[in-house]
Amino acid sequence: MKRKIGFAVILLAVSFSSCKKDDPQQPFTGPLLPVNFPQPAYDLTLNPVTEAGFALGKKLFYDPLLSRDTTIACADCHISFAAFSHPDHATSHGIDGLFGRRNTLPIQNMLWKTGFFWDGGVPNLDLVPLNAIQSPVEMDEDPARVLEKLRSHAQYPALFKQAFGSDEITTARFLQALSQFMVMLVSADSPYDRYVRNEPGATLTAEELEGLSIFQQKCASCHATDQFTDQSYRNNGIINDFTLDRGRNEVSSLPDDIGKFRVPSLRNVAATAPYMHNGKFKTLESVLDHYAAGVKDSPSLDPLLRQPGGALGIPLTDIEKGRLVAFLKTLTDEDFLRDARFAQ
Ligand code: HEC
Ligand code: HEC
Repeated sequence: MKRKIGFAVILLAVSFSSCKKDDPQQPFTGPLLPVNFPQPAYDLTLNPVTEAGFALGKKLFYDPLLSRDTTIACADCHISFAAFSHPDHATSHGIDGLFGRRNTLPIQNMLWKTGFFWDGGVPNLDLVPLNAIQSPVEMDEDPARVLEKLRSHAQYPALFKQAFGSDEITTARFLQALSQFMVMLVSADSPYDRYVRNEPGATLTAEELEGLSIFQQKCASCHATDQFTDQSYRNNGIINDFTLDRGRNEVSSLPDDIGKFRVPSLRNVAATAPYMHNGKFKTLESVLDHYAAGVKDSPSLDPLLRQPGGALGIPLTDIEKGRLVAFLKTLTDEDFLRDARFAQ
């Protein structure tokens, strides 16, 4: 999985390593663009990240004013120490104590995503907050009312002025500020990253390296690249009844897409339990037991999970499972999970 490093990479590496996190003395630099990541999919030139825009986006993200009854903030479901996912909640838990039908996704490395939500139903990061605000089981608020509340607020007009040059509060500016906060949430400093970038002293244990090698053979066809997803939609056999949630088919209407969900990134996966779009599994061990012996058949089951001879899933011994778990834990970026710039 090691990448060839060239000239541009060396330049970037300098800005990467010189940008120490958690250091208030450092000038604001915008999102990190790690050398082992591809070009971002999000066009930063259309929404350049500034210190004031980021600060405004952060305040909005943590503000329950965005919900109908001022009880639920984005951050109530997206919790910083869990890579902005929702620990211990199989499906989302929003306004009036209502539960949604899907597991809250982490918010990390949004710059590189080409589709949002488990079904890719939102094509652009800037549009995601409108879904959360309008969802009757999340924040249940009219975005126009949110803008009114912000306009009559004691602090927001001045903060919009600092971020955008005038105190006019528009939908576009509101969404851009939230995106400025979210694109800053870059996680690329796990032990795996330091190893793959050949940083001085960065090593993985023999068990972790064996896990990496098993992962490359048995998992990386779907969990591809250093984002650990090929950004496609697939059925990995966790259920075979899709009446509650048809996945990608709800966006594409294609019959073949019934039961397909976005291949999730596995970054910080040890911190983002429970797993899968329906939060079915509580531990990484149970995820591996699923791939080894729990895959359920249905017409859209991914062909990679059909073995020659007819068995389903991915053959894994207990030793291989242990090594895979050890490897998956090297994707935990402790600095990101504890980064004071992003926490409340
Ligand atoms: C009640 C819990 C809840 C609240 C409140 C909430 N979210 Fe979410 N968020 C979710 C769930 C659940 C998903 C996955 C939805 C799906 O796939 O259909 C999600 C998905 C996302 C994603 C997509 C991540 C990806 O990888 O595709 C982003 C970005 C996001 N939320 C941002 C926000 C913002 C910004 C707010 C506040 C305006 C917010 N969320 C409020 C539960 C919540
Ligand atoms: C055929 C493609 C494919 C292969 C091969 C595959 N996965 Fe997955 N993986 C998926 C999809 C799709 C999901 C999400 C399914 C859903 O939620 O409906 C997923 C989900 C996961 C999750 C849950 C992540 C989260 O945040 O909820 C983990 C962990 C995981 N896979 C690990 C692995 C490991 C380890 C292997 C190799 C043993 C592997 N996967 C092989 C497609 C695949």
